[in-house]
This record gives sequence, structure tokens and C-alpha cells, in this order.
Amino acid sequence: MYIGADYYPEHWPKERWATDAKLMKEAGFNIVRMAEFAWAKMEPYEGQYDFSWLDEAIEILADNGVKTILGTPTGCMPAWVALKYPEVIAVDKTGHKTPYGNRKDNCSTSLSYRLLGQKIVRAMAEHFGHNDNVIGWQTDNELGGPNCYCDTCKLAWQEWLEEKYKTIDELNERWGTVFWSHTYRDFNQVPLPKRDSSNPSLELDYCRFHSRQVVSFQKEHIDILKEICKDKFITHNFMGFYDNIDYYALAENLDFVSWDYYYNGSWGNTGSWKNRFSRYNSGAAANDLMRSLKNKNFWIMENSAGPLGWECYGRNLRPGEFKHMSLQNAAHGADGQIWFRWRTSRFGTEQYWHGILGHDGLPGRRYNEAAATGAILQKLSPYINGAETIAKVAIMLSYEDRWALKIQKNSNNFDYEKHIMKYYKAFSKLGVDVDFVRPTQDLSKYKLVIMPTVYIVTEEIASNVKSFVEDGGVLISTFRTGVKDSCNVPHALTLPGLLREITGIKIEEYEAIDPDNLYEVEMDNSTFTAEILSDWIIPESAKVLANYTDKDLSDYATLTVNNFGQGRAYYVGTSFVEEEAYDKLIELALKGSGIKTFGPLPEGVEITTRINYDYSCYFIINHTDEITSVEVPAGLELISGKEVSGVFNLGPRDVIVVKHQIM
Ligand code: GLA
Ligand code: ZN
Repeated sequence: MYIGADYYPEHWPKERWATDAKLMKEAGFNIVRMAEFAWAKMEPYEGQYDFSWLDEAIEILADNGVKTILGTPTGCMPAWVALKYPEVIAVDKTGHKTPYGNRKDNCSTSLSYRLLGQKIVRAMAEHFGHNDNVIGWQTDNELGGPNCYCDTCKLAWQEWLEEKYKTIDELNERWGTVFWSHTYRDFNQVPLPKRDSSNPSLELDYCRFHSRQVVSFQKEHIDILKEICKDKFITHNFMGFYDNIDYYALAENLDFVSWDYYYNGSWGNTGSWKNRFSRYNSGAAANDLMRSLKNKNFWIMENSAGPLGWECYGRNLRPGEFKHMSLQNAAHGADGQIWFRWRTSRFGTEQYWHGILGHDGLPGRRYNEAAATGAILQKLSPYINGAETIAKVAIMLSYEDRWALKIQKNSNNFDYEKHIMKYYKAFSKLGVDVDFVRPTQDLSKYKLVIMPTVYIVTEEIASNVKSFVEDGGVLISTFRTGVKDSCNVPHALTLPGLLREITGIKIEEYEAIDPDNLYEVEMDNSTFTAEILSDWIIPESAKVLANYTDKDLSDYATLTVNNFGQGRAYYVGTSFVEEEAYDKLIELALKGSGIKTFGPLPEGVEITTRINYDYSCYFIINHTDEITSVEVPAGLELISGKEVSGVFNLGPRDVIVVKHQIM
């Protein structure tokens, strides 16, 4: 298993490199990522390359058993690029060029930037392609922004629209441009969405366009690297729940996904730490999403190593947290882990984004904890490396829905991630593993699928869901599902549109709930509170499971279930304040599904399962600061090497991994 740190030899005198390499070796590290921000050092003047310093660093590290991942360096442009090719700089909505001086300043469409990028990537690939100490590549760094509104982007956007719609009449028709006299006579009349509240169809297509530009920018790097370096892997560092790019598409051409997980808050923002269980849960979910992008294990490319921030910093890692959080990543499928960064920088914006070592470069507590954690991961490695998560539950997550729901939130209080997390958490409390899926993905391996406000439902999505339920699947769809077509236009159908037959309900009316006047819902002799959005459900063939108690709404259902084919479809018309409402709903939905649960687990305890051939590895994590008793499956505990079974007392922030023979 690869364990290590993000390393910036260019920030330190050469004389220090051997000390760093030795300290890494002593910590058991075997990998670094380097050079993703070193363009100016590798190409100080246009077309003049200097890789000698990097050769030397790679060699010193390799002499100490540490291999290298190299980043393609286009995340930060050198000053000469910005000065000589001013067209590469992104333009914001108001028409202003982003001033040079930070990073990620470039337009992803700019031909000059793309060519300059291809040249440095090719030069790096040719130089390092035969170096066995370089085992892989990272493309760029955290691809995503900025969204650009320059003239080059405008032309590319118009061409892309023409390719998509073929005729301008078709675009006018699909977007409904008759509204406010926005009808176009030619593709060259179609603007970029520079105004707020533009046509939602235009805005959604722009999100698709921007995402496509970034994906194709990355593809150019991948193509060069694949052509020249056949035996090296290619990955990219994703950002969990970040939503500006279609992450499924960005992941498609990579060998595997990696991601940057700063779980302890950053930029001095430690407020969310108060609700630490929701943090742990969102970390778990983000890990699952990263695994789901390619349905494959992944790496952590940047793991928290200390207090994080630029001007202000946040919470430090407490004793035990290196182990605790790294094992949580492994629990969800991380097969390699790299801490950001090796030593805290003395220079530049990130002086307070702390690394394993402080500014003084001396090994201290964080170093010791990282080393001890690495040793545990290495011990687990033969059992867990490549072991799979085989989830029977899937949550649909589509970037197009996320964009459409940013363009029109429906309610000021609607938060897509929080909405998804309410469902995710109910499964987490039971130790049930979850995948994320695209709405068009084959669902046959799942038994239970959540469709949380899948706002855009096309014929393809509807028929995918229909065969899943017909064949015996359990579906839970929620409010505002099936509202829009692929152009972000509401279907001319009674809601839930193409899902009406499957769900056995109709919705003629709906509203956003006034936060000062929340209303009650009666479900299975308990009372819950509806918030944010509400569909007023009229059952057709469906059975009612919960009602609004408000007298104005007493004719309408809140929650229904419909038997359809061999399966059943739940429809949840609102968002509940209380977690218990989700616990109840999931308990109902799991009944008879054959999905194994461990729950309910004690508060703050997480269990995941990774399967390797004929045995399971159960990761049992105590996220609390107290000793917690938990019923564990019988087997060999891989960290201590002791047999365990029955009730086990897990120490504060402790993790055990139980190997349990399946057959
Ligand atoms: C991102 C980058 C890192 C580092 C951190 C902190 O995660 O990928 O290189 O710059 O931000 O700023
Ligand atoms: Zn541009």
C-alpha cells in the first residue's frame, strides 16, 4: 500500500532533501506527490526546460524507498505565461479579467493555454516516462473553476450548441426562447449566461458546456501521458461533494480516482466541528461518492495533517485522529493515502496550511502519529488492498440535477447535500454500505435505490427505474423528483411526471414551507415536522403511510408506497426535521429486502464491510471520545492479531478491523 506525503522540494534548500527523505523512510513512507505547482521551476522561460532539480529530488527519495507521483503543472501558470499570452486568463461574468496572482486563473477553452499545457506535459512525459521511480501522474490539481465568460468561450459555446441542437429552431423550441423575446435567429446570437436569472435552459447547458471544457482539457493531458508513459497510472485529485464538474465524466478516462479530504475544517472555520457526527458522516459519504465515480477503490491524495487555512487556520488533529480518520478512509475503499503536506511552507499563501512537520522541520507528535498510522495501514494492506465494497443500496446523484437545483433552488432553504445526507445517515446508523449512482446507470445489482430529488427525469431514467422496481427493487423517490426534462423545462405532465405510474400517486400542487410555520406529519403513531418543500400528494394506486395534520392539508398524503411489478415504490413528499423519521422510513423500506444490517449501532459508531475473496473485513469505528460497547462479528482483529467476538469495548476514537471468513 502506498502511504506518504505531498512534497515540495522546490520550497526547501537542496541540502535539506536528504534529511526529508530519511525522515520519510523512518516513518515508513513510500510515496510522494510532487511538482503540480512547479511549472515556473520546470519551464523558467518559454520552451526552456529544467528538470534536473526534480531528477535529483526523485533520486534522493528513491534511494530511501520513496516513489513519486508527478502532477501536470497547469493549476498555476508562471508569470511569463500570463504576460505573453494574456488571452489565457479567465474572464468573469462582469467581463473582468481575473487579475494574475493567485492560482487557477486560466480559461479552460483558451487554445494558447491548452497548447502551453500540452507542451509542458509532453516535455515532462518524455523526460520522466522511463524513470521507474515515477509510478504515476496526477492531472492538473483540483480541476473545476473558474467558470469563464471570455470571447473564446463564447465562440466555443455557440459551436457546442450547434453541434447539440443542429438547428437554431430546435434550440428555440427546446429552451422556450419565445419567453421575453429571447428567440435567436442564429447560433451566433446566443449569449453566455452573464445575467442572473437568465433562461434556466441556457444556464443548465452552460454548466454542461463548462464541465465538458474542463473534462476535455484534462483529456489532452491524459492522451499525452498514455501515449508516452504506458506503464504509469493516471489519476486526479477530486474534491468530494464539489459540484461544478460532472465528476463521473472527469473520472472516466483515469485509472482511478483520488481525492483531497480536509475533514477538520479549514480557513479558520471550525464551527461545523460542533456537530462532529455529521462531519464524520459527510466524510464517509464523500469517500463513498469518490469510490462510486468509477466503482473502484480510490486514493486520498491530500489528507489533513494539521490546522488548515490561509489567513486563519482551524482545528488541529487531536491525538489518535491520524489513525482514526485514515482508517475511516480505508473503511470506504481508500487503497493509498497521502498527507498534505510533508512540511508546513514558510512561503506564500499557504503558510498556515499545516503539514506533518511544522515550519521548523522537526519530527514531532504529528510525525509520530502519521508514522504509526502508516504502519497500521501496511499491516492491514494484504487483507484490504483491492478488497471491494459490495453495496446493495444506492443513492442517485447526478451533476445535472445539482446544477439545475443551483439554478432554481425551489426553496431558499433547500440544500442538496444536506438532503442526501439525511438518507445516507439513516443507512450509516445501521452499518449498511451505500454506493452513489447516476440515474441512468444499471441498477440491477442493488436492492434499494434512493432517488433524492432527481429533478430531471428523462424517458431513459424513467424506464431504468421502472425495470428496477418491476424486477423486485425497492425505490424511494422524494419531493420534486421528475419535474424537469433534460433542457431544464418542466414536463407538461401531472407530477411526478414519468414516475406517476410507478409511484401510484399524483401531485397537482406543491409549495415551499415557511420556516416560521413548519407543519406536522403523522406517521405510524409518531409526529414529525415537515420542512423546506412539500408536495401535496393524492394517492392513486398507492397506500398512504403518513399524512399532514394541518387541517388545510388533511386531504393530502406526505408519504406513500405503491406495489409495482415485483417491487415497491415509496414517495416522500417532504423533508423531515427529525432524524427518526428517516430511521423509520428506512426500516420500512429495508423490510424483506434481504439487506444485512448491523443496527441500530450505538451513536457515533460506524461499521463498513470490505470483501476480499472468501472473507469480509469489517471496519468498526468509534467516532466518540468515550469507550463504547459494540457487538462485533466473530473473527481475527487484524490490528491486534487477537480473536474477537460478541460485545467489544472500543476505546475513544479507536478502530478495529475484523477479518471474518464468509465460507
Ligand atoms: C487544495 C490543493 C492543495 C493545497 C490546499 C490548501 O486542496 O490541492 O495543493 O493548496 O488546497 O490550499
Ligand atoms: Zn474562456
